[in-house]
This record gives sequence, structure tokens and C-alpha cells, in this order.
Amino acid sequence: MSLIPEALRHRLIQLRRVLHQYPELSGQETNTAAVISKFLQGLGIECRTNVAGHGVVADIPGKAGVRCVVLRADTDALPIQEETGLEFASVHDGIMHACGHDGHTTMLLGAAALLSQEKDLPAPVRLLFQPAEEKGTGAISMIKEGVLEGAGLIFGGHLDRHYRPGTIVVSEGAVNASSDNFTVEIIGQGAHGARPHESIDAVVVGSLMIMALQTIVSREVDPARPSVVSVGQFHAGTAPNVIAGQATLEGTVRAQDPTVRQQLLNSVRRIAESIAQLHGAKIHIVVTEGTPPLVNLPELAGLARRAAVDAVGEGNVLPLKTANMGAEDFSYYLERIPGAYVRFGSQVPGREGFPAHSSKFDFDEEALAVGAAYYQAIAKIAGRQLQKQAASI
Ligand code: NI
Repeated sequence: MSLIPEALRHRLIQLRRVLHQYPELSGQETNTAAVISKFLQGLGIECRTNVAGHGVVADIPGKAGVRCVVLRADTDALPIQEETGLEFASVHDGIMHACGHDGHTTMLLGAAALLSQEKDLPAPVRLLFQPAEEKGTGAISMIKEGVLEGAGLIFGGHLDRHYRPGTIVVSEGAVNASSDNFTVEIIGQGAHGARPHESIDAVVVGSLMIMALQTIVSREVDPARPSVVSVGQFHAGTAPNVIAGQATLEGTVRAQDPTVRQQLLNSVRRIAESIAQLHGAKIHIVVTEGTPPLVNLPELAGLARRAAVDAVGEGNVLPLKTANMGAEDFSYYLERIPGAYVRFGSQVPGREGFPAHSSKFDFDEEALAVGAAYYQAIAKIAGRQLQKQAASI
């Protein structure tokens, strides 16, 4: 059984391999955008290019007077040297589609091919090919360009190596975590390494701070609510016999729940300030808020589930085992309009140990047809929902 016509399935595999071979970094997706718009033009679908950098937006007509269903794919690659050994491996040194965005782009183009054949869509469908997801800036920039104007519902998804190919993973609740960064600059007093009593040692203050920050998750947050505080950088000092007068810590905070997210950020600030005060140091703390948590509301997860069942059958629709503590900027769209985010099983035997963002990441190309079929189904199911809403106004 094939989910989509065989010829299209082959075409999508070829397309994915081209995209994979010529990956482009966030904000530089020129060639990718050209491939996308050429494919859409071949289907007779008009598109806008250069949206928020190298984004592409295409509208497929449907019932007049009904808000559109938005389907979103991300298009950018990562600064990673590919080591997959695939025959279509990246030809761009140090750049790789290591998160499967080549697959996401391809499945949405597959959906475009399927939807362009449909006569009476219950609602118009808007396709977003979003750049710069890896930087976490693409979605916000697209929204500022007005891509959600006239939109009623939005859907997206990600490949997932934890599930077998042919499956779609749908759950209500948290799917991805929020991501915020913080920088703490510690200002102490430098001195000779042999005269600690004349110093306020920024390395000691910073070390105590790092250890104390670890107690936020272990002692302050409800253990049933996943959260992370990680310090990824600690810079200080110039010589073995010089006590550092300054140090800088940089870290990241992740949470699946907006209240926990706020709690973590408040605690980071309180602990950093208190430890500094305890030792007579001063601090300057900057919090850079990033993407919000990505949460599927029950009703919307229900719609996504119906589309998944339509596409692959009940037995191939699975619940999410655990939410990902990584961030996904699709959450910015969900802050504005309702929608849901799913996962497409894409496990490659022998490569389960290579996660997204690893130099050996790969996915099973069967997921391309699954994604295309799912997006076609959700466009219709969500479209009918919007049509009903329009009729009841
Ligand atoms: Ni990704």
C-alpha cells in the first residue's frame, strides 16, 4: 500500500537528496528557497519569496470566506561537518542538514503536490517554508511579515528517530520546552595568587554560583515537572598565580510549563545575586528570553490525531513517549493561533544512536510520504472545522 502516488514518492526522495546535498545555514537559505519556489511553480501554485529573509509562502485556494489552514516546514541546516557517508552527503564544508529540515521541506512540497490536485478544499491552505528555525528567529520574523493574517489553524511536525518509519506521533500536552539564556558577569577584586585575603575571588564566587544553581531543579521545582538549568560557559582568569577579579557564566534554562519557566528564571536571578552578596562581589545579570514551550491543546491534538489516522491508520498513530527538552520555534505561532505539532517516525536501523544535530544523523525516507499524506489530511480536516466555524458566525 502506498500512501501517495508512487511517482510522487520517488520524486520526493530525489528532492530530499538534492536539498540534503546543498544545505544552507540559517538566514542564508537562498538556493533552498529557489528549489522550493521552482517546485511550487511547477504545480501552478503561486508563491511569495524573500519573506523574512529567505522564507517562501504559498497559498492554495479553497472555499471563499473561510480562514486558511497554515502548514509549516523549516528549511535551514546546521554548522556541522557531515559524517554520514551517504552518497548524497553535503557538498558544503561544515554545513549539514542534521535536523531533518530537508525532510520537513520535502514533505510539505509533497503535500503541495497532493493539495494542488484537490478541487474543493473546505478552506484555503497556506504553506510556510520558514528559514532560520535553528536560530530560533525565523518564526517570529515570518509572523512580523504577516504570514498569519487570515489564518485560522496551524500545523507542523518534526522527524523523530525514536519511532519506526510509517508512524505519526501525536499527543496532547507538552511537546517541546522553552529555551531562555542567561549571562552572569561577576565583578570581584583581583589579587596576587599568594594573597587571597586581598581579593574577592571571582572564580570561587562563580563556582559556588554554578553549584547553587543546580539546586533549583533538584530542590525548588516540582519533580513531576521537567526542567533544566545548565551552565555551558564559565570564563575567568589569566594566569595560575593571579586571582581573577572577573568571571562570566552563561547558561540555558528549559521548561515545559510557563509557570515553571518563570520560576527558573526568578531563581537563577535570586541565587546569583545572593551568592555574590554573600562574598562581597557584584554581578550584572542579563536574561535573554527565547522560545516559549510548545504545548498541544487537547482539542487540537484531537484534530491532528484524526488526520494521522486518515494518513497511516490507527495502528500507526502513537503517543509521544517523552517531550523533548529542546526548543522549537513553532511555539511562537501557537501563541497567536491554535494548532498542533506532531512527530514523524523515521528510525533508521543502526543509526538510532545518532540524534538530531549529530554529524551522522539520518532518517528513513519513508517518512516523506507519511508527512505529505498527513499534511494533506490535516489541511482537509482542519479546513472543514474552519468552514463550520465560518458558517456559524
Ligand atoms: Ni529541527
